[in-house]
Amino acid sequence: MTVTVRSFAKINLGLHIGARRADGFHDLLTVYQTIALHDLIHVSVHRGSGIEIRCADARVPADQSNTCFRIVERALAALRAQARVVIEIEKRLPVQGGLGGASANAVSTLLGLERALKKSLPLMDKFRVAAEVGSDLPLFLVGGTVLGVGRGEQVYPLEDLPRTAMVVLTPDIGVSTPKAFAAWDQLRLKDGFENNGEQQVRSTKLTVAMGSDRMKELSRALSVRLSEQYSGAPRGRGRAENPLLALVRAGIENDFEQVVFPEYPELCKGKQALVRAGAKYASLSGSGSTLYGLFPSRAAATIAVVKLNAEGWTARATSTLTRRAYWSRIFDC
Ligand code: C5P
Repeated sequence: MTVTVRSFAKINLGLHIGARRADGFHDLLTVYQTIALHDLIHVSVHRGSGIEIRCADARVPADQSNTCFRIVERALAALRAQARVVIEIEKRLPVQGGLGGASANAVSTLLGLERALKKSLPLMDKFRVAAEVGSDLPLFLVGGTVLGVGRGEQVYPLEDLPRTAMVVLTPDIGVSTPKAFAAWDQLRLKDGFENNGEQQVRSTKLTVAMGSDRMKELSRALSVRLSEQYSGAPRGRGRAENPLLALVRAGIENDFEQVVFPEYPELCKGKQALVRAGAKYASLSGSGSTLYGLFPSRAAATIAVVKLNAEGWTARATSTLTRRAYWSRIFDC
C-alpha cells in the first residue's frame, strides 16, 4: 500500500533572532505561515527492514542525512515497528531554501508512515520526534499561522490569518543557515563593540539584551493583534482590510536580511523588485534565498509574476494556507 501526502511549504512572517544559547542554537521568535506550494511524498511499507529514499532531483540526498530518513528511523523505534520503508519524494518546491521544504517532507513522511503502518504515535511523541530532527519541523504538525519560539521548535497555533495572495521568488542562490546565524552573531558583536568601545565583555552582554528587546517588540505586536478582538480595544489600521497586512505593518522584519542581503545583493534587489511589482509587503523567508511578497489579490499576484519573469526572476503565484485548508488537503491527493 502506498500513501501519498502533500508536503506544504512555509514562509516566515517576521523572524527575530535572540541570544546564542549554550547548546549553540539561537533563541528565535517567528510567525510561521503555511502556503499552498507543495511537494508530494509517497510512502510504502514492505516486509523486511531498511529505509530507501528515491528522488529524481540529484540535489536531494538519499542517505541518512535526509530528514525523511531520520524521522522514519525515530518513528519506527518509537512505534516498535519493523518494516522496509520506501519514500519517494516528488520535488515541486524550489530547493533553494527558506520554504522549509526538507522539514515539511519529513513531517509528511511521518504522517504517511503512520497511515501505511496503520499505527499512530501519541501527539506528544510526534512533536518530540519532529523537534529532534530539526527546529522547523514541528510547525508542520500544526499548520496555518503558527508562533515559533525556543529554537523555533516550540510551536503554538495562532488565530489563523485569512488566505492571502502571494508571489514566491526563487533566486538561484544557496544560503547556509548556520553561516547566516554566525554572521548575525558577528554583526551583533560588532554593533555592541562599536557602541561600547573599550569594554568588549560588557558589549557581549548588551548584544544579548538587544536580542531580547527586539523579540519583546514583536511579542507585544502579536499580543495586541491577538487580544484586540476580545479586549474591546479599537481595531488597528488595516485590520478590516486584512489582519495579515496589519500584522506586517506592525513592524515585522526578518533579522536575517541584515546579514544575507549584504552577502548576496541580488536578494535585496529581488525584494525591491517584488515591491515594484505591487507587493504590500516583501521579505526574505527564513535565511533564504527564497523571497516572498504579499499581494492584495490573486489577479495582482498573477500580473506581478508576468512582470517579474519578464525581468528575469523565477517567480510564481500562490497563496497562504489556513490551518483548516492545510489539514483538509494534506491527504487529499
Ligand atoms: O534545527 P536545524 O537542523 O534546522 O538547525 C540547523 C542549524 O542552524 C543548527 O545546527 C544551528 O547552527 C543553526 N540554528 C541556530 N538556531 C536556531 C536554529 C538553527 O543557530 N534556532
